[in-house]
Amino acid sequence: MKILLLGSGGREHALAWKISKSSQLEKLYVAPGNAGTSEIAENIAMDINNFEAVGNFCVQKQVNVVVVGPEQPLVNGIHDFFESSPKLSKVTVIGPKKEGAIIEGSKDFSKSFMKRHRIPTAKSKSFKNHQIQEALVYLEQKDSPYVLKADGLASGKGVVIENDLQKAKKALKRLLSGQFGAASETVVIEDFLDGVELSVFIITDGKNYKILPEAKDYKRIGENNTGLNTGGMGAISPVPFANREFIDKVENQVIIPTVKGLKKEGIEYSGFIFFGLISVKGDPYVIEYNCRLGDPETEVIMPRLKSDILELFDGIATNTLSERDVEIDLRSVSTVMMVSGGYPEKYEKGKEVTIDKLDPKTLVFHAGTNIKNNKTVTSGGRVIAVTSYGKNLETALKGSYSSIEKVQFENNYYRKDIGKDVTTKS
Ligand code: AMP
Ligand code: GLY
Repeated sequence: MKILLLGSGGREHALAWKISKSSQLEKLYVAPGNAGTSEIAENIAMDINNFEAVGNFCVQKQVNVVVVGPEQPLVNGIHDFFESSPKLSKVTVIGPKKEGAIIEGSKDFSKSFMKRHRIPTAKSKSFKNHQIQEALVYLEQKDSPYVLKADGLASGKGVVIENDLQKAKKALKRLLSGQFGAASETVVIEDFLDGVELSVFIITDGKNYKILPEAKDYKRIGENNTGLNTGGMGAISPVPFANREFIDKVENQVIIPTVKGLKKEGIEYSGFIFFGLISVKGDPYVIEYNCRLGDPETEVIMPRLKSDILELFDGIATNTLSERDVEIDLRSVSTVMMVSGGYPEKYEKGKEVTIDKLDPKTLVFHAGTNIKNNKTVTSGGRVIAVTSYGKNLETALKGSYSSIEKVQFENNYYRKDIGKDVTTKS
């Protein structure tokens, strides 16, 4: 198989690493990729939201499968573009069409979808920009903390959680007056759920699905989950509280009704679904759907997937996913993200990255690097994810933390408490 993988983060390096291990792989291209992917694949400089360019490349190189890492090309309709072009309709796209990507692209849609299919989620109501007064009245009737969500994609900044009613009202007015343009023309106000978060992933051909390893990510910049939100500072898998009983609940109450619901509504969905969940006293509630894998969750999921991922992609291409096996490595895996000092606010780029010889149980996934004058340099906030295997989470984390010392770049920062909340016995 000839594969084109779209994206340039740690998620894509981890996917490229897994794809590159397949015996069925003929050639792997990554666009645009990073310094890490350039070691295992051919990087292609390309704007992944320019579908003509992506399509022309696939025709020229006879690509069989396009794997879409981030959500934007999916929400913009890359799968639809391929399907409607006679030269590209035979290329398998891993990721849904526009009508499926809407589960991530519109919170208003996803909330009403969950209500229609009785999928557990926080109680909510949506308001359009001409309903500011009604929205303020609704907010006043609610209890603190207040949860406000821009309907559309807002680069991870569209969720406001506010304890103070006056501040929440101000934030609501800002959102509905166009803080994120069209993305916040509609705002969802929802009840706050108090619990522990985790991410569950499936791959589906629209009829059948396979459950991938679950993960927990650490979103805040500061230790003990304090400070600003980031793309994700680390992840672990498995998640200790997600025992068999819990995952069975997720499957029966969330996964099955979601896959069936999509089918029932005539939405052909193929690719990954990422269920952002919160466990409230042992019961799962959906916080959000994503139409892609998570980052940095992929940096712990791919190492735990023993099966050949191209077998799963072939299962999607031929509608035979039900016949494919998903075998999971029983070891634990952790990843700790090394970021540029200053991130998620202002930070410098272009710092040289050096990596000494690593322990065999450790993998280094590049998240924000590129090559300049034959040197690997930082090119983003999140720079390197240091992933390790262990017989349990404690040993995996020990591996990640001892290997961090092998990775150097000026002014780096990482959280020292990844996984502590679930491994330290109180
Ligand atoms: P989202 O972009 O929907 O994932 O929301 C970002 C973060 O806000 C989530 O990861 C949660 O930590 C938090 N969050 C979102 N919705 C709720 C809710 N209803 N109750 C509590 N926390 C929430
Ligand atoms: N780690 C969360 C995300 O990828 O959205």
